Amino acid sequence: MTASALRLGIALLLLGWAPLLTTAQPACAPTAPDMEGPFYKPGAPVRESTGKGFVVSGTVKSAGSCAPIGAARVEWWQANPRGTYDDEHRGTLVTRSDGTYRFETDPPPPYFGRPPHIHFKVFAPGHRALTTQLYPKPGQTEITFDLVVSK
Ligand SMILES: [Fe+2]
Repeated sequence: MTASALRLGIALLLLGWAPLLTTAQPACAPTAPDMEGPFYKPGAPVRESTGKGFVVSGTVKSAGSCAPIGAARVEWWQANPRGTYDDEHRGTLVTRSDGTYRFETDPPPPYFGRPPHIHFKVFAPGHRALTTQLYPKPGQTEITFDLVVSK
């Protein structure tokens, strides 16, 4: 194979792959924002438990670079097992230096026709605040929920 044929082959290969390259998801796409709802209260106590039976863990990361973000503040709030919001089901955590966090809570119940969910807010240094929600599947007892924030 001549050098020019090789170059043509490489060019065709690159052109063939170009649509895939341009439509691919970026590494560490930002977590989709979701409604705050009416029950957010700032200043939830720092703790690792707001109940039993459902463990949430993950890493706060920077969109694009995927760099883990330590010292980010993660707040969550959810309905209690009776289906109403209360202060016992609000918490705040600060991510470890490797960006990870973990807490245990009660499995969230359905709430007024909405699927079970936990609300989150993330405040990471040098990044925009993120408000989102997690939707566990029925019967799930643990989940990994990475929170990817944008600058
Ligand atoms: Fe809610």
